[in-house]
Amino acid sequence: MSSMSLVILGASGDLTKRLLMPSLFRLHQLGMIPTLKIIGYSIDKWDRETFIAHLREAVFAFVPDADESVWHTFSQQLDFVSGSLEADALKQLAATLSPSSLFYLALPPTLFGQAAEAIGQAGLAEESGEHWRRIIIEKPFGTDLTSAMALRNQVHRYWNESQVYRIDHFLGKEATQNLMLFRFANRVLAPVWQAEHIEQVQITYAETLGVENRAVYYDKSGATRDMLQNHLMQLLTLTAIEPLGRWDGEILRDHKVEVLKSIRPTDDMPVDDWAVRGQYCAGQIDGQSVTDFCNEPNIPIDTTTETFSALRFEIDNWRWKGVPFYLRSGKRLKNNYAEIAVEFKAPAGALPGDLKVNNNWLIFRMGENMGMDMHMTAKMPGMHIQTHDITLSAPYTQPGQHEVSAYEQLLIDALNGERAHFLRFDEVEWAWRVIVPALKAWEQGCPDLYKAGTEGPDTQNRIMRPGHRWRPLAEPKS
Ligand code: BG6
Repeated sequence: MSSMSLVILGASGDLTKRLLMPSLFRLHQLGMIPTLKIIGYSIDKWDRETFIAHLREAVFAFVPDADESVWHTFSQQLDFVSGSLEADALKQLAATLSPSSLFYLALPPTLFGQAAEAIGQAGLAEESGEHWRRIIIEKPFGTDLTSAMALRNQVHRYWNESQVYRIDHFLGKEATQNLMLFRFANRVLAPVWQAEHIEQVQITYAETLGVENRAVYYDKSGATRDMLQNHLMQLLTLTAIEPLGRWDGEILRDHKVEVLKSIRPTDDMPVDDWAVRGQYCAGQIDGQSVTDFCNEPNIPIDTTTETFSALRFEIDNWRWKGVPFYLRSGKRLKNNYAEIAVEFKAPAGALPGDLKVNNNWLIFRMGENMGMDMHMTAKMPGMHIQTHDITLSAPYTQPGQHEVSAYEQLLIDALNGERAHFLRFDEVEWAWRVIVPALKAWEQGCPDLYKAGTEGPDTQNRIMRPGHRWRPLAEPKS
């Protein structure tokens, strides 16, 4: 990696402290960013020493095996510049930047457009020869289709699409990357991965966490904008995507957009048929009492923001016609539990007597206990023909293997100019197209309440087809 710089705008904020710096430190520890100059930029009137002291605390808090001597060499790569998001202020950076530079907008979403434009106005987006300039923009990209388009236009005043890296950290997760690889690397799945054999797909991301210190953002966003429009829609596209003829990031993104374009438009569907929203009220999680969402600090008492959202989509292409894709995510639920669960149809042949056979499920577990399970039916040992359910289970990580974090993966990709795991604007656009009708309908009325520490609102099964129900929020103990 030749000399380059990374400028983090919003360097005194939470994202920098909790995720970016620990990831950069680990990459440094792995020897992957030896010559990267990291420049923190913030409105705070800090100096370099204050910045370094602040980061030191963060790194030692978030990286369990952080080593003092590694920190020492890492800290030499760090610099700090204080300034506003005005072009004149940003010009100060020109002298410190390497010819190839990446700008990371670790800022509140309302500032993305202004910051991208100001960097351009300051002349810092211009590339010359082999030297590149790139910008990473965090999610959410807009709050609906209109604002997403306005943001795109503002960003594109100075940046080409090829310079823009819209980050969705789920695309850097090991579990997500495995989903794509597993599907295509195992020939046994190819013939059955389609409507003739698949009954339904359920994608769940359940959290026990509440809004933490993000109340102001979250109350404007809600679960649908925060999790479903981006992270869960991405998991849907990767579950449903057509095989690639050639492994190429641009073709991958074309194929993902094809999936999104094939989702049946939701504009004319009665919202209650395909969407459910909920809001948590007081309850118990892991023996601790938690308060109502509307009583959380900085949340208005009459808030109608949803902290739980469940949607059903139909993909009208030859492969998926008739297979519902259910997506749901919520805060303050019973467990931290995340999975992509694919149910196969009932077996085709006759079985002896009136044996009860459950359908097969293939589960991609995405949380801490990452792995894959195939639920199958086998004969129960003994004289009589009886069945029982068995699970073929594999952990994702084998002893001696190490996972990398999503931010480590995506930071390296962005520095290397690998765009496959970043969102192209048309992905953002087509995801908004099918999500916005629910958000519009929800401008009226109130979410269904659910008790914190439960599976979510009782109404969530309303969007399911006959015979389908949401899976419980944890694997049953075997
Ligand atoms: C973020 C959301 O994008 O993803 C959070 O804003 C959510 O609300 C988080 O908690 C979940 O991702 P992870 O990787 O922390 O499980």
